[in-house]
Amino acid sequence: MGFCFSPTIRSVSKFTSCTILLVFLLSCTSFTATEAYDALDPNGNITIKWDIMSWTPDGYVAVVTMFNFQQYRHIQAPGWSLGWTWAKKEVIWSMMGGQTTEQGDCSRFKGNVPHCCKKDPTVVDLLPGTPYNQQIANCCKGGVINSWVQDPANAASSFQISVGAAGTTNKTVKLPKNFTLKAPGPGYTCGPAKIVKPTKFVTADQRRVTQALMTWNVTCTYSQFLSQKTPTCCVSLSSFYNDTIVSCPTCACGCQNNATQPGSCVEADSPYLASVVSGSGKNSYTPLVQCTKHMCPIRVHWHVKLNYKDYWRVKVTITNFNYRMNYTQWNLVAQHPNFDNLTQLFSFNYKSLTPYAAINDTAMLWGVKFYNDLLMEAGPLGNVQSELLFQKDKSTFTFEKGWAFPRRIYFNGDNCVMPSPEDYPWLPNAGSHPDISLLTLFMTILSAMAFLYAYA
Ligand SMILES: *[C@@H]1O[C@H](CO)[C@@H](O)[C@H](O)[C@H]1NC(C)=O
Ligand SMILES: *[C@@H]1O[C@H](CO)[C@@H](O)[C@H](O)[C@H]1NC(C)=O
Ligand SMILES: *[C@@H]1O[C@H](CO)[C@@H](O)[C@H](O)[C@H]1NC(C)=O
Ligand SMILES: *[C@@H]1O[C@H](CO)[C@@H](O)[C@H](O)[C@H]1NC(C)=O
Ligand SMILES: *[C@@H]1O[C@H](CO)[C@@H](O)[C@H](O)[C@H]1NC(C)=O
Ligand SMILES: *[C@@H]1O[C@H](CO)[C@@H](O)[C@H](O)[C@H]1NC(C)=O
Ligand SMILES: *[C@@H]1O[C@H](CO)[C@@H](O)[C@H](O)[C@H]1NC(C)=O
Ligand SMILES: *[C@@H]1O[C@H](CO)[C@@H](O)[C@H](O)[C@H]1NC(C)=O
Ligand SMILES: *[C@@H]1O[C@H](CO)[C@@H](O)[C@H](O)[C@H]1NC(C)=O
Repeated sequence: MGFCFSPTIRSVSKFTSCTILLVFLLSCTSFTATEAYDALDPNGNITIKWDIMSWTPDGYVAVVTMFNFQQYRHIQAPGWSLGWTWAKKEVIWSMMGGQTTEQGDCSRFKGNVPHCCKKDPTVVDLLPGTPYNQQIANCCKGGVINSWVQDPANAASSFQISVGAAGTTNKTVKLPKNFTLKAPGPGYTCGPAKIVKPTKFVTADQRRVTQALMTWNVTCTYSQFLSQKTPTCCVSLSSFYNDTIVSCPTCACGCQNNATQPGSCVEADSPYLASVVSGSGKNSYTPLVQCTKHMCPIRVHWHVKLNYKDYWRVKVTITNFNYRMNYTQWNLVAQHPNFDNLTQLFSFNYKSLTPYAAINDTAMLWGVKFYNDLLMEAGPLGNVQSELLFQKDKSTFTFEKGWAFPRRIYFNGDNCVMPSPEDYPWLPNAGSHPDISLLTLFMTILSAMAFLYAYA
């Protein structure tokens, strides 16, 4: 599946066989959760590790850590919530660095009352500023977890849990079942817990190694198909060789409809805006977008700016149309064949992603700390930009047929809606509109597929 999505299919025969494969895959209509993985981060996952640190008279104390092994998908505010179902009648006596959202019915306990008696507890992170005596390492970030590439030091989140009415040896303890991870909406599917080799911990001075009494792992993977989100960003295009600016597709993220959804967007000069932005709705996580034809909270503009003899230059601008959101730690993933020869990049960080060892056409871009890693709310400051300098490979480089435009763009891990390839700006001397080329055809199928696949 992922292979067919890759735009590196150059030869006609491969293209044809891939089309046949696509048709075949479409005809077996059942897209299951496990098939719908991310082609640009095929091994991406969140691994949840339970380390039993000590046994207690009626159970154990465990440290639960979530590692975000996804290259670019992070968990933003309002953060993760993690649920599971106990195998027996376990209770949670106490927690550090996290809490359950509900206590449940603890009426069978006299005296000491547990933190949570629910059969299916849901845990959330504590907020920044939690008193030190309730913290543990990697906790208390309001459920925010950064991505592995962007900030590995902050790509994990932990809490400590003291479990009662549970097994008290590694033979009698029963693993929790049915893990669910919300981030905060749906999208992740978690596998069963598996007992693995106990984790080894090295002391800070590296002179002693201790180990957990028992460890189990749970792996969760993301699928845009399951997340059932409407798109949150779109792409617009322009070039130095043609005045046409190809805007984001109309209604890419929704349509303006004040009749059925009053206030679904606001005009930039509306007096209503001031009251909404400073008012009580301020901390809502529902986007409040500026009225545009595309209605997306985020627009990525790709401008082909200059053509030199051996190089060409692109300007990328990300604009925030959401009045309710400052995007901290934003990131962009872009796919273009010339990323194998990116010579210079200004004012963004960059890492080449190589989802398939031989293919080097995907790049992850993100802001420079304290400079532009914060994409401010909609308004005059709500944009960040960078320029990319590519070295031409004479055998593949062309301005024709939209080659200079990106094949795919993700903002914060969400696929952005691209304009239709027929609308791309074309070279003035290109006589007539190019016939449906192989690329155009391929990209049409690709975008149709991506649409079906992600939002069907
Ligand atoms: C989860 O990601 C890590 C790091 O990329 C990888 O080593 C591991 O094999 C992945 N686990 C699964 C079950 O895919
Ligand atoms: C359980 O503990 C015993 C020693 O007490 C050890 O030999 C065994 O490997 C452990 N089993 C697991 C699953 O950790
Ligand atoms: C697993 O959890 C989900 C959501 O909490 C629930 O709907 C489902 O019934 C649970 N399945 C089992 C087997 O407990
Ligand atoms: C369990 O998870 C930890 C942390 O992510 C990882 O280091 C370890 O390799 C995993 N073990 C297995 C067997 O997947
Ligand atoms: C929709 O309603 C909002 C708030 O009342 C207003 O600011 C905006 O101009 C309206 N949009 C249209 C297209 O009528
Ligand atoms: C975004 O950040 C600015 C400056 O820190 C702040 O004034 C503004 O209230 C923030 N907006 C939101 C929606 O959080
Ligand atoms: C991909 O391209 C980048 C930038 O040109 C380079 O640093 C990296 O080594 C390349 N990776 C592979 C696998 O070719
Ligand atoms: C970059 O392009 C130059 C000129 O075509 C070529 O010599 C070089 O091998 C290319 N580098 C990579 C990593 O493809
Ligand atoms: C620019 O491209 C558009 C297609 O998007 C085309 O209709 C127009 O004629 C082109 N302009 C010139 C000057 O060639």
